[in-house]
Amino acid sequence: MKEKIIIAIDGWSSCGKSTLAKQLAKELSYIYIDSGAMYRAVTLYFLRNHIDWTSVPEVKDALKNITLEFKPNHTNGESEMYLNEENVEYVIRDMVVAEKVSEVAAIEEVRTFAVAEQQKMGTAKGIVMDGRDIGTTVFPNADLKIFMTADIAVRVERRFKEMYSKNPNITVEEVKANLEMRDYIDSHRSVSPLQKASDAIEINNTGLTPEEQLQLTLNYVKNLQKQA
Ligand code: CDP
Repeated sequence: MKEKIIIAIDGWSSCGKSTLAKQLAKELSYIYIDSGAMYRAVTLYFLRNHIDWTSVPEVKDALKNITLEFKPNHTNGESEMYLNEENVEYVIRDMVVAEKVSEVAAIEEVRTFAVAEQQKMGTAKGIVMDGRDIGTTVFPNADLKIFMTADIAVRVERRFKEMYSKNPNITVEEVKANLEMRDYIDSHRSVSPLQKASDAIEINNTGLTPEEQLQLTLNYVKNLQKQA
């Protein structure tokens, strides 16, 4: 059996990171961790419990009451986010959460909490994790680092389609504004801002089909495994 590696995928909002991460995990029989789901789940908890996240003591207390877990879906085997034993995979994708998640994810205590959990999940290797700081902060020694980009119009179109199927009242303008706002906050925050790791491979998938982006990345994996 080939040696298992850690694959870190970072990039802008809605540029296909999770699609690629899921494809790779399936192909390589690795575990997929959606780190963004963890920030979304924390945000959902803060919103539901009216936590004032500008108050550090309130944030610290709230985090003590949060347990995050990924469990496989019984039908398709895909991992889903559980917040304190409740399956929140669907609800964390709502615009209400998307509007606040970057603010919450910029809080140092929240990141320390999430990163510690993510690093625990990676101890066994054989993992694909996507997010904003995986190659820079969570796994700076990851074996393969991918930084994904795509044109804003394509990103908006993809996310609009996803969100429209759940909420036909959503508009393209709303989706675009949300992606741009998150990209701005994520890349300008002081703790672990979104940035390409110096040793990451950049993939612009604007013109690539899911199959093409998978094959391209699998070639990098195979090359690494040949060298090992
Ligand atoms: O899938 P999408 O691109 O919409 O974003 P996501 O991966 O679900 O992440 C949602 C938000 O969580 C991001 O906009 C970031 O604010 C935050 N996040 C982060 O700060 N660090 C990560 N490693 C992953 C997500």
